[in-house]
Amino acid sequence: MRDKLEHLENLGRKAELGGGEARLEAQQAKGKLLARQRVSLLLDEDSFVEMDRFVTHRSADEGLADKKILGDGVVTGYGTIHGRLVYVFSQDFTVFGGSLSEAHAEKIVKLQDMALKNGAPLIGLNDSGGARIQEGVVSLGGYADIFLRNTLASGVIPQISVILGPCAGGAVYSPAITDFVYMVRGTSYMFVTGPGVVKTVTHEDIDMEGLGGADVHASKSGVAHFAHDSEPECLAAVRDLMAFLPQNNTEAPSSRESDDPHDRRDDKLLDIVPDNSNKPYDMHDIIGAVVDDREFYEVHKAFAGNLIVGFAHVGGHAVGIVANQPAFLAGVLDIDSSVKGARFVRCCDAFNIPLIVLEDVPGFLPGVSQEHGGIIRHGAKLLYAFSEATVPKITVIIRKAYGGAYDVMSSKHIRGDVNLAWPTAEIAVMGPKGAVEVLFRKELASAEDPEAAAEARVENYKTQFAHPYIAAARGFIDDVIDPRTTRPRLINALDMLRNKRDENPRKKHGNLPL
Ligand code: HXC
Repeated sequence: MRDKLEHLENLGRKAELGGGEARLEAQQAKGKLLARQRVSLLLDEDSFVEMDRFVTHRSADEGLADKKILGDGVVTGYGTIHGRLVYVFSQDFTVFGGSLSEAHAEKIVKLQDMALKNGAPLIGLNDSGGARIQEGVVSLGGYADIFLRNTLASGVIPQISVILGPCAGGAVYSPAITDFVYMVRGTSYMFVTGPGVVKTVTHEDIDMEGLGGADVHASKSGVAHFAHDSEPECLAAVRDLMAFLPQNNTEAPSSRESDDPHDRRDDKLLDIVPDNSNKPYDMHDIIGAVVDDREFYEVHKAFAGNLIVGFAHVGGHAVGIVANQPAFLAGVLDIDSSVKGARFVRCCDAFNIPLIVLEDVPGFLPGVSQEHGGIIRHGAKLLYAFSEATVPKITVIIRKAYGGAYDVMSSKHIRGDVNLAWPTAEIAVMGPKGAVEVLFRKELASAEDPEAAAEARVENYKTQFAHPYIAAARGFIDDVIDPRTTRPRLINALDMLRNKRDENPRKKHGNLPL
């Protein structure tokens, strides 16, 4: 027995050595953590249970027969975050560059199947040179097996991808299907084809960071939801995210108690929105004032800043917040912000997370590039997402709610449950200036003093239309509230909607305007 135990322990030590001392050192010299160190930082202390550490590849091609490394380049298993079960795989770049062989893929697939069957989140720590070249199409098949499971698990269990090294070629499509993508500046890259191929095909000169680094994907392409400066910071952020998500789509997210009083009224809320409705302000100030402990977990922070999305707790309830940002492009809805919002709303709806909308939107962005880029198709995604969502939906119109954007931003008409407005709300087909130009063009052209005449018409329009009381008279707005009571009113609504049940007609699936 003791001999056998010693043999087991030796094998265990061998598995932990991955690609060997030299490669482990090289990995650390690049400023990267080792596969198991990452798992330790991600999970609760000593909670990790590893599986399949003795798996090896079965390939004999290209001299691989005598190069078998225990674990075959990916550490897989399960553990807990904040005491709740998660499954995790962590690719080991020291073993064949973390490349994906048939056996490596099978380990991930096994984990995906377990996570789905047992209803717990799956977190992938990616650090890989892609398909293992020596295994050819078998490796491509392994990727496809993973993509299929990513798709089947979408909306059933939370799936999170953390990119901690290269992620190239078709391999990027597994993270792309998952719910959240994290990257680290300077060490993680995602691209379909690398800088070399780009140079050959399009003659563009660009390095890895410029083509597919963390900031590029977090701010320009929107592929990454988060960019961090270091791996420990990134992994800590993933742990924080889990506080807002349920284990799976049959559960509600766990609530979190805080000392922040539920009836807290905030006088500052009277001074954030400027009297001049054309002046910007920072919507983050309002979000901070209404959420528990001023803690807001912003998603896609650097992408499409005209729409803010993220998680918070409000009166202990985990919520998704969608808010227009008047401080960026006046809070207008454009292609990127529509897609960003739609993805977030659908994620919240899939995982039973109530939605709070803070609205100040002048409309959709006009312009040739927006029209030709398909703002109709992309704007429709946001409309579709809010319309199909059956989670509790609470909207507070802070200031502008003009045109189609009024309908889109979780209005009563598309099943908003509680729709409130501040007294500063302006709800109409369009803003005063635009409306006057359309309605009184001829009159103003022939006026003695066109400017003064326009001014008078604008003032008249504001009195007639730019307020919340016409909508309130129709019941489209349930109440016009004192801004200071926003937090208690939100908590009250969330409590009231706790057992909401709503269903969409039975269908195979909807046809989201992609
Ligand atoms: C087998 C690989 C490998 C791969 C790297 N290695 N990528 N082995 N298959 N795909 C091995 C190297 O031979 C080397 O082995 C070790 O991993 C480390 O690689 P280095 O090149 O020394 O590291 P580095 O300089 O940091 O460069 C990393 C890299 C580069 C940028 C990832 O290795 C690279 O370009 N690899 C190929 C990437 C690629 O084109 N993959 C296919 C993408 S297409 P030794 O023994 O020397 O340590 C794809 C299709 C997916 O993945 C399809 C899904 C549908």
